[in-house]
Amino acid sequence: MKMKMFFLALFTASVAAAMPSRSPTEFEGSASQRIEKAIAGAVADGTRRVTIPQRDPLSADGVWRLDRAIVLPSGVSLILESPVLELKAGVADDVIRNASCGADCESDKAFEVLGVRFKKAVLRGGRTGLNIGNADGYVVSNLEFQDVAGCAVVVDKTKNGKISNMMVAASGQPSGSPCVLVTKENESVKVEYIIAYAKGDVVKDCSGKAKIGEIVNLHESPALEDRPVPALVPAPRSIRKTPGAYRAPAPYVTRDWIEFERDPTMRAEAYRLSVTTGGVKVAASDVRGELHAMATLRQLGEEKTFYRNCDFYTGGDIGRPLVIPCCEIEDHPRYPWRGILIDEGRHFFGKETIKHVLRQMSAHKLNVLHWHLTEDQGWRIEIDAYPDLIKYGAVRPCSPVHFARGDEFNGDVYGPFYYTKDDIREIVAYADALGIEVVPEIEFPGHIRAALAAYPEFSCAGEKLPRVPRCTWGIESDVLCVGNEEALKFVEKVLDEVVGLFPGEFVHIGGDECPTARWKKCPKCRAKAQSLGIKPEKLQGYVTARFAEYLGKKGKKIIGWDEILECDIPEGARVMSWRGRNGGLKAVKQRRPFVMCPSSHCYFNRTDGNPEDPFTPRNTHQVVSLEKVYSFDPARGLEGDAEKYLLGSQACFWSEVIWNRYDLDWRMWPRSCALAEVLWTGSTKKDFGEFVERLQQHRRRLVMQGVNAAPIYCENTNIKIGGAKK
Ligand code: ACM
Ligand code: ZN
Repeated sequence: MKMKMFFLALFTASVAAAMPSRSPTEFEGSASQRIEKAIAGAVADGTRRVTIPQRDPLSADGVWRLDRAIVLPSGVSLILESPVLELKAGVADDVIRNASCGADCESDKAFEVLGVRFKKAVLRGGRTGLNIGNADGYVVSNLEFQDVAGCAVVVDKTKNGKISNMMVAASGQPSGSPCVLVTKENESVKVEYIIAYAKGDVVKDCSGKAKIGEIVNLHESPALEDRPVPALVPAPRSIRKTPGAYRAPAPYVTRDWIEFERDPTMRAEAYRLSVTTGGVKVAASDVRGELHAMATLRQLGEEKTFYRNCDFYTGGDIGRPLVIPCCEIEDHPRYPWRGILIDEGRHFFGKETIKHVLRQMSAHKLNVLHWHLTEDQGWRIEIDAYPDLIKYGAVRPCSPVHFARGDEFNGDVYGPFYYTKDDIREIVAYADALGIEVVPEIEFPGHIRAALAAYPEFSCAGEKLPRVPRCTWGIESDVLCVGNEEALKFVEKVLDEVVGLFPGEFVHIGGDECPTARWKKCPKCRAKAQSLGIKPEKLQGYVTARFAEYLGKKGKKIIGWDEILECDIPEGARVMSWRGRNGGLKAVKQRRPFVMCPSSHCYFNRTDGNPEDPFTPRNTHQVVSLEKVYSFDPARGLEGDAEKYLLGSQACFWSEVIWNRYDLDWRMWPRSCALAEVLWTGSTKKDFGEFVERLQQHRRRLVMQGVNAAPIYCENTNIKIGGAKK
């Protein structure tokens, strides 16, 4: 995917073209001020594209002179026509932040610098990343170069400079100009930590000390000391510390510097990781195993900004190369289904939040995103054959007031909120790159009121049903009219499009909480039941069997909530046990694989029991504490070889009282760390005190990565650690 990030500067071409007839305000202020104005204009008019013309029309020599920090908003692209950008030394600590030439860069040089202090910038494109010439006392740090065709850095005739923490991810360098650093005729240039991490890059310097693909440190390198293994969550099944530590050639974990070996004798998702002073080796039978090894390496090396290869880059500190304690790890998961359910129906989270969750899932070796996309209160997926699904179904005229008891509503229109097909493809691809399968849930025959708002003819009430999704929480009586063949064809067509979007093995068809009152009264449903020789309240079994077969022919397996067990469930179907464990036990009797996620242990929308938490509704009968999660054994009560039907478990986030990403994070972490360990490591590690100790270190890591994790609260031991919610 093409990354369209970042930004820097300047004047719109239209402004430049309009130069002869100056408007009084356009040409006021310093170069930096005028540039900021052009950026604001490009954001306001939606073009999101700014151009620095060849010459600054207001300076005598035409040079653009920037005198203060310019921050470019995300998504604004830059065309840099000017080959010369002069940044005055010492005028600002960081003159340009988030600077990037962007994919559209049409310039030879990203920047010509005459004495400047750069911080935290990414420069992309161009034939030369950065020219520093004739400058005295410059400091350049935390700069990253991507896709620079020629020399990333040229330092020429300078004095008293310092260059540190620079990354070069150069790609596509034409042969003949492969240098990432050239210095000539310089005095007292201190260069440290320049990292070229694409294979084939060449690092060159005037003294000839640097080596290909290595850290350039022209001054003394700090000695590499052995270090202890930091907290690993989930804990690996086996780890042996060996002497020493390895300095990676980058501050990120990327595939470039790891030696991979495919070992087909290893089980699915397993990995073997060997860190020695000479390098890192990973053996795995599949790509997921490799990704899990990389997740472990990120924790071992305390990576600061992670997943940059997955379109995620904070723009924050690039940091120092990772130092990884030497060790040998052998690891594999206890269960194949290690999931997170996100309910988008009650509240909608959006792509960025889902990506944020996916990154953290992958860091914790969780591998299934159960994406609950349709509900009574909102339909969140674009379907071409039925455009009214989002027109009516994705907009709710009001919602219950936060934490209100009883029926108290606000008058705020909620929506339209939905994912386009492109959004869905983007999320599915993003998840796939992180080793996560996305299982879509399209609910029927109940919890479908938002779809019926768009197509009331598919309800038992017909056209007279009001065309709005349900505003209150709870269970809706109006459900799909399963006696109406057109209504079933509607579901088929929706599923046809869903199947085209989600390449994974499963489609979740919901099936929970479907009242039968309407079916019992509806002439069409009664007639259908009669023709099948069943009572109307058993129609759900017919629907489940029909769609198991329909989706089976398309190569998909269905999974449904444990209510589908009330009728015999078809071959190939899977069950999700949520009303306690009985659903799982019943599934075993029918020899059906199942996911064990009883609400008592897995509904993390419920409080963790912390009495001082003002942000989670507190129902003391429904506490899902950290300790309870850690003590959860999905296999409890299974006899003989019944565990072979147990796929795993998942944490569920029903979103009636989860409004946004911060609430979601708050309930998700750190409890999902406990579940991740239960599902990955299993009973080989079940010392809660030891877990909490590791979690203290790990929670700090989460917070540093921008996760709004709740404090660690332990109801019995009364341990409480952590900060305030955003
Ligand atoms: C559910 O919580 N209704 C699956
Ligand atoms: Zn009906």
